[in-house]
Amino acid sequence: MTQTKPTTTSPKRMKMEETHMKAIVYHTYGSPDVLKLEEVQKPVPQDDEVLVKVHAASVNAGDLHVLRADPFLIRLMGYGLLKPKNTILGAAIAGRIEAIAANVKQFQPGDVVFGDLSESGRRGGFAEYVCASADALVLKPSRLSFEEAAAVPVAAVTALQGLRDKGHIQAGQKVLIHGASGGVGTFAVQIAKAFGAEVTAVCSTRNVDAVRSMGADHVIDYTKEDFTQNGQHYDLIVATNGNRSISEYKRALRPNGTYVQTGGSKKQVYQAMLLGPWISMTGSKKMGNLIAKPNTEDLVFVKELLETGKVIPVIDRRYPLRETAEALRYLEAGRARGKVVITVDQNNT
Ligand SMILES: NC(=O)c1ccc[n+]([C@@H]2O[C@H](COP(=O)([O-])OP(=O)(O)OC[C@H]3O[C@@H](n4cnc5c(N)ncnc54)[C@H](OP(=O)(O)O)[C@@H]3O)[C@@H](O)[C@H]2O)c1
Repeated sequence: MTQTKPTTTSPKRMKMEETHMKAIVYHTYGSPDVLKLEEVQKPVPQDDEVLVKVHAASVNAGDLHVLRADPFLIRLMGYGLLKPKNTILGAAIAGRIEAIAANVKQFQPGDVVFGDLSESGRRGGFAEYVCASADALVLKPSRLSFEEAAAVPVAAVTALQGLRDKGHIQAGQKVLIHGASGGVGTFAVQIAKAFGAEVTAVCSTRNVDAVRSMGADHVIDYTKEDFTQNGQHYDLIVATNGNRSISEYKRALRPNGTYVQTGGSKKQVYQAMLLGPWISMTGSKKMGNLIAKPNTEDLVFVKELLETGKVIPVIDRRYPLRETAEALRYLEAGRARGKVVITVDQNNT
């Protein structure tokens, strides 16, 4: 008879588990190749912070901008001039509060939360634990898995702020979402429908059915039809992706229409930033870009849409924590359909 030895964890190993955690770390700016899985000190919450056991995080374009320090301005914005100050990326998370600091009144250990940690420029979500300001977090919608919840904070809030705050969306308006199949776009289509708009979604052939199933009234396959040339005009255009010129978007707007650029090619970004204000001042059409700001009030607004099922996160791929670099490479390739998520705690998602 073979005897199995009882498995015991050595006291030294137990001590390590209490004080250390696994995290995806980078010490120099660069491509996803510079990311490494390391054992690092577990953070301790201070002042108004909570310690969250991260169950899932989503990858966002912002993580890539900070990772690559692209644009260069990132280095001057407190992220570190020569090398990164905070060595763990990951802004959008969902998890369980494990400990709270003295000043935290709104949460208790055990609360299940989600949020965008990037307000202070800190991030830290690509790790087993993260310390976050309690003000950055909201109780997770109970009907969502941790992965679905982690998909929401950055992308859905960007879509909401683009449509509502910059776009002043109204029920009954004709709204076009360019880049409708991506992380921001899939939320934009559903949030625009929730506002009662008539939504036209622009995507490539392979995404037509998926985007229609999200509730878009009309879908334009950009490989077959040019929305700037088909004679249709819109009250609001939100460009979450793409590479059209600002004059093409202007042509597709109705008189008094609004164009909001939230993402896309550098050409789109710079034209919206530089020419948008001038076009808005000199004519009836309003054109400009949005830099989304993390905001828990907006996250609560989205949470209500999630709870009623009006908005459902679309997840394209899930990766384990150790494959975070691969997840970022996939996002960077620009073909994700919905969100790309990191499952940090694989036993409890
Ligand atoms: N303003 C802000 O504060 C803010 C916040 C978050 C993100 N962003 C920016 O928003 C942009 C989108 O982010 P995301 O996470 O939604 O991106 P994403 O998930 O990577 O977008 C991928 C999707 O874009 C579609 N796409 C690619 N090229 C396209 C084109 N020429 N025309 C139409 N669709 C195209 C792809 O569909 P097909 O394969 O069908 O083409 C794919 O489904 C990025 O530029 C990001 O930097 C800005």
